[in-house]
Amino acid sequence: MPVSWQPPFEPSRASQAHSFARESTIHRWPTIVTGIIDQLNKLNNRVHVTHDEVAEGKRLIEQLAKLVYEMRHDRALAPLQVTGNRTTYPDDLDQYNDEIEHAETSGSRLTWFSASWLFAECYLYRRIRCLFEQLKHFQSFDPFAQQKIDTFRSSKDGIMALARTMKQLIDKGRPTDKDVLHADWVAMIEVCLWGNVERGKEFFLHNDINTTWNHVKTFSAERFDIVLDNSGFELFSDLVFADWLVTLSPFASQVVFHPKLIPWFVSDVQPHDFKLTLEVLADSTFFGDDEPASESDKMALKEMVTRWQKYVDEGKFKLAVPVDLKMGEGGGELADFWTSPWPFTEMGNRAPQLLKELQKSSLVIFKGDLNYRKLTSDAWWPTTTSFDEAIGPLRGLFPILSLRTCKADVCVGLEPGKAEELDEKEPKWRVNGKYAVVSFCPAA
Ligand code: F6P
Ligand code: MG
Repeated sequence: MPVSWQPPFEPSRASQAHSFARESTIHRWPTIVTGIIDQLNKLNNRVHVTHDEVAEGKRLIEQLAKLVYEMRHDRALAPLQVTGNRTTYPDDLDQYNDEIEHAETSGSRLTWFSASWLFAECYLYRRIRCLFEQLKHFQSFDPFAQQKIDTFRSSKDGIMALARTMKQLIDKGRPTDKDVLHADWVAMIEVCLWGNVERGKEFFLHNDINTTWNHVKTFSAERFDIVLDNSGFELFSDLVFADWLVTLSPFASQVVFHPKLIPWFVSDVQPHDFKLTLEVLADSTFFGDDEPASESDKMALKEMVTRWQKYVDEGKFKLAVPVDLKMGEGGGELADFWTSPWPFTEMGNRAPQLLKELQKSSLVIFKGDLNYRKLTSDAWWPTTTSFDEAIGPLRGLFPILSLRTCKADVCVGLEPGKAEELDEKEPKWRVNGKYAVVSFCPAA
């Protein structure tokens, strides 16, 4: 089934000279895959490793090296291999393979450079998963797990600072003054957007925080959804925002979190990351003994994480799939759509159950760059296009708030002349993560 709605502009492709798509296909992806190979080499050199594990490790290394070769030499995207162990994702491989076959039969064979950047990049992570899922010892191995947890550990200061802030807010009690709530709303969205960096107004290229406030300010005990992006400090700040919504604001009684079910774009949250985040935050030894946190900070963090665990137990914080779901176990349409190669404009056609589910929400918050690319079809829209226009048939289906720091070429919602000014002043503005767009589109 071809993509049913097409934007009037080309999608990003690596074949486009000077595009970030090309840069990431040539440099970033091979580096990521080579990083996995290095990790497997280390695993194979451990003392206690069985013959069987070494053999599987070697096989993976060969297949990953082949993948790097294919991508560097702009080979055709090979159909994904359906394996004997494939008990889950009943048709997600078919979605990739049908698209590859459809292009082949219509005379435009998909290669690493000619396919859309979005399709090729999703294919890359799905293909890596295919290699792992067919093996006995590596079936539920997340090649990015160590990296995710190490980066989280290194964010101790930011974590303690937010735990302190939440404690101070909670000690003051639920605010009733609308101006205080409004200021807190803005502060929380900014934490969720920037993580532990602070940036001034000039770094917002489009800012709908106040427009969204007008949508939210009359809410009472509603459901919010967060389509998650990265693990580590980003997930932590999402949880802080959710905590503020449920504990301190009158607006929400439940926050539903949507993770990915396979290792995805390196850092994206999977159910095991969500679970581990709560576990390590409750473990006083996690941050080690170097520069130990003060007793009051430790207490603030403990109180906060105990509350989060209680919210998970009560369903106020709800992962969209069971929190104990193992990698390789099915999550169904509600979860698998997030790791399909499709722009979100395809949701109504390809994941109608997910669409129905999101329509129960009073605000669906999409985090990060990839979600933004999928919302806007990752196309070369003129930068003055409105967000409403760029999301095509998704417009008005449910209330959407996108929080995105810019890490790819697509960007909409800018004032006339802004892109040209930035091209002049800071040529990497589209991709260097220093700028952001906060975009809101209400339900019709
Ligand atoms: O560095 C490029 C990239 O992989 C983009 O393809 C992708 O959009 C982004 O990084 C991932 O960023 P985020 O985690 O914010 O979605
Ligand atoms: Mg990500």
